[in-house]
Amino acid sequence: MQGAHVLPDIDALSRAAAAEAVGIIRSAVAQRGTCALALSGGNTPRSLYRLLGTAYGEQIPWEHVHLFWGDERYVSPDDPASNYRMVRETLLNAVPIPAAQVHPMPTGHADPNDAAREYEVLLKRKFNDDWPRFDLILLGLAPDGHIASLFPGSKALVEDKRRVVAVRVPKEPPQRLTLTLPAINHAANVHFLVAGRSKAGALHRALVGPCDVQTCPALGVKPMDGTVAWWVDEAAATFLSAEGRPRASPH
Ligand code: 6PG
Repeated sequence: MQGAHVLPDIDALSRAAAAEAVGIIRSAVAQRGTCALALSGGNTPRSLYRLLGTAYGEQIPWEHVHLFWGDERYVSPDDPASNYRMVRETLLNAVPIPAAQVHPMPTGHADPNDAAREYEVLLKRKFNDDWPRFDLILLGLAPDGHIASLFPGSKALVEDKRRVVAVRVPKEPPQRLTLTLPAINHAANVHFLVAGRSKAGALHRALVGPCDVQTCPALGVKPMDGTVAWWVDEAAATFLSAEGRPRASPH
């Protein structure tokens, strides 16, 4: 059972999560001279990314930030469905981050498994051959319960050796790349951003249950040496009390 930070709406949620992200980035750079972020796709983080590029942009030492992706739709980087494209449009165009520090998941291989392996090689290189230690991973939560591109019932949920896998999912676009749960669980901080009434049932199942990892992939997010935070708006929190306990049945 975990509680959640409940904010009135997506704007307040984005501001609160952005302020927290800035703190994490600054403290990582102050301590180690570098910061690694893994970004989520979807619509919810758009406002947060815009804030990181505008109101909060000058507080971030972009020359020390390295950007990665938690998942990617297997489409070209210019496709409207591309998570990389979304970040480019909302954030990258606005900030002085060196291009060599932006690491989108590759989507040009004929076989997506080769793309997953290429990203694993990159992660191993960037993290001294060890599991990736992201300072912050941002994740969304879909109404069907998927996080990154780890969908309920997927074999990828039991993967324990790979950092990145190619998956086929029951949603457009069906071919995706995703970090695995062990890769996520080596992060220092994992923040979920959840907004909108359509997420209320999935959020209640993830925070209150009853549920298991195969049905609620978010339950597999348990960093071994890190924190989890849930940033949610009131609409998504419809079935939660202020303490993250049920106040109404979603069924
Ligand atoms: C993706 C994701 C995915 C997303 C959720 C929530 O590439 O689709 O990274 O896990 O975060 O589906 O998406 P929304 O924010 O659009 O609701």
